[in-house]
Amino acid sequence: MTDATTDPLVVFTPSGKRGRVARGTPVLAAARKLGVDLDSVCGGRGICSKCQVAPAYGDFAKHGVHAGADALSEWNAVEERYDRIRGLPKGRRLGCQAQIQGDIVIDVPPESQVHKQVVRKAATMRDIAMNPATRLVLVEVEEPDMHVPSGDFERLARALKEQWQVEGVTADLSLLARLQPVLRKGSWQVTVALYHDHTGASPRIVEIWPGLQEGPLYGLAIDLGSTTIAAHLTDLATGAVTASAGAMNPQIRFGEDLMSRVSYAMMNPGGDAEMTAAVREAIGQLAGKLAAEAGIEAERIVETVFVCNPVMHHLLLGFDPVELGQAPFALVTSNAITLAASDLGLRGLNPRARIYVLPCIAGHVGADAAAVALSEQPGRSQDLVLVVDVGTNAEILLGDTSRVLACSSPTGPAFEGAQISSGQRAAPGAIERIEIDPATKEPRFRVIGVDLWSDEDGFTEAAGKTGITGICGSGIIEAVAEMRMAGLLDGSGLIGSAAQTGTPRCIPDGRTQAYVIWDGTEAGGPLISVTQGDIRAIQLAKSALYAGARLLMDERNVDKVDRVVLAGAFGAHISPKHAMVLGMIPDVPLDKVTSAGNAAGTGARIALCNIDARAEIEATVRQITKVETAIEPKFQDHFVAANAIPHKTDPFPELSKIVSLPDVSFNTHGSGEDGSGRRRRRRS
Ligand code: FES
Repeated sequence: MTDATTDPLVVFTPSGKRGRVARGTPVLAAARKLGVDLDSVCGGRGICSKCQVAPAYGDFAKHGVHAGADALSEWNAVEERYDRIRGLPKGRRLGCQAQIQGDIVIDVPPESQVHKQVVRKAATMRDIAMNPATRLVLVEVEEPDMHVPSGDFERLARALKEQWQVEGVTADLSLLARLQPVLRKGSWQVTVALYHDHTGASPRIVEIWPGLQEGPLYGLAIDLGSTTIAAHLTDLATGAVTASAGAMNPQIRFGEDLMSRVSYAMMNPGGDAEMTAAVREAIGQLAGKLAAEAGIEAERIVETVFVCNPVMHHLLLGFDPVELGQAPFALVTSNAITLAASDLGLRGLNPRARIYVLPCIAGHVGADAAAVALSEQPGRSQDLVLVVDVGTNAEILLGDTSRVLACSSPTGPAFEGAQISSGQRAAPGAIERIEIDPATKEPRFRVIGVDLWSDEDGFTEAAGKTGITGICGSGIIEAVAEMRMAGLLDGSGLIGSAAQTGTPRCIPDGRTQAYVIWDGTEAGGPLISVTQGDIRAIQLAKSALYAGARLLMDERNVDKVDRVVLAGAFGAHISPKHAMVLGMIPDVPLDKVTSAGNAAGTGARIALCNIDARAEIEATVRQITKVETAIEPKFQDHFVAANAIPHKTDPFPELSKIVSLPDVSFNTHGSGEDGSGRRRRRRS
């Protein structure tokens, strides 16, 4: 209870922060005093409405508060005016205007919190806490006075210090060039986009507008891959993704995989600069496209975060990647980098936008792996988790609270449907799921774009629109695993003949066999089959992946892990059972295999929305132990043993609980076709 002599008690929800403040204190000032997260752009001038609160009246036994009807001051003229012109939702007050007169409980709605939690829709994904580096603030700047000479920028800096307690602000030359007309146009009232990150560097003015600017600021989270570039335009106040777009990485014309791009740089003087210019141009176009799609001005994009592998990292920043092509794989720098968009010549966004590139873990384990670590947090896991980001190159992390290890393994593009005879990218018409009846050896499948299985009524008509065009990455994994389960493929990876398997779907293909999934040739369509060459390509890819994981397990001195997280766009589509039949991942109970979606992209968004996350990942990467697969002799042993399906020596007890693999062998010649394959190293 309050009496006239005690200061009123104020309790803020949902934070639960409470304390006594002098009668007459504005709610915004009380919030600041008690460390409550309440937003403000106009600094309490009653014009931005970011400070809206919802006071609650009555008895609150839980808080020990009785809030009388007069616990806040009456509506004042500023609130009345705001409500009349722009409308204030029922039950809301402007925190900068309403004054505390008695004990009160005040709720701060999510939209009034700067550091709100953005709850992601998919349960498997992390929530993002908002704490962006850039925010809007309104300032009143003193007019110049001939008798007290000072520059316009110095008076702006002083205003920021006095009105927002922001000291030592800096600005680029291009901002200074805009300053004078904007100050005068705004009659000495301006809104600035102020960037202040976790590094302790001086705050920086990125943009300035006359008068009050309320519209959102945006950032780009960019996952710069060797094949594709994915960008998400993100509202820096709410964390919501406003628009997303992807583009092919134009560097593909210089080389399909990473090593061929490094070779291009080695063989062609100026080749690195050519690739740098190409990717920067593509990023600029992507930014421009996103801004146009969202209907915003490019100047509103004030930040960009990049995640990428080390070669992409170097080529983006204009560093020659040659050293990354040879041991000891030295990076120019592994630290996180902050710079301006104009330093990279990036178009399509504010030229003063701050660019943040996540740190690299090591020469072959890049900022993309760091982003996966940020998103999946293996270092906070109580149990031992293996995180696998499957792409052309697999990034592998193994760890728990005691220690995290990382490596990258050259799986090649087979998991993405490339180098597969009937392979194609995941697009309508591609076979993505497949089952083979172990008795009849007949397949049934589903194609992207059609909900029915191929043996269900209506499939033919439905597939008429998409066609049945090929087999995508997840489809080839299921096909090979199903062939193994149906006894069409032996443990060494050999496909049996029609006579050996009893199905005419096994057809000769040169000196080896192929299994026909779909014969569309009569109607002028493709013959979709899995050939011995396809099996070999998948074996090489999965062996590289498994060997990488095993190497990390050796380092931790363990034979098993507690759970597996499959990350990457492709990881989201892999069936855990089939991945385990193939022996792509170590044996764990199936319900311990989860998908994390595009974890690198999520990591980029987290870093974009929260500067604490940047500090966290910079500290984390220093503690991650890097294991180099390219020079580790045991990698070769693990690779050879992993060529068998699922594995030559490692037991898969969890797998055998749910699947019994036929004990077949199709090696009639003793020809050395033992499936061990030859190790092929590829970095891409
Ligand atoms: Fe801007 Fe209250 S702080 S209206």
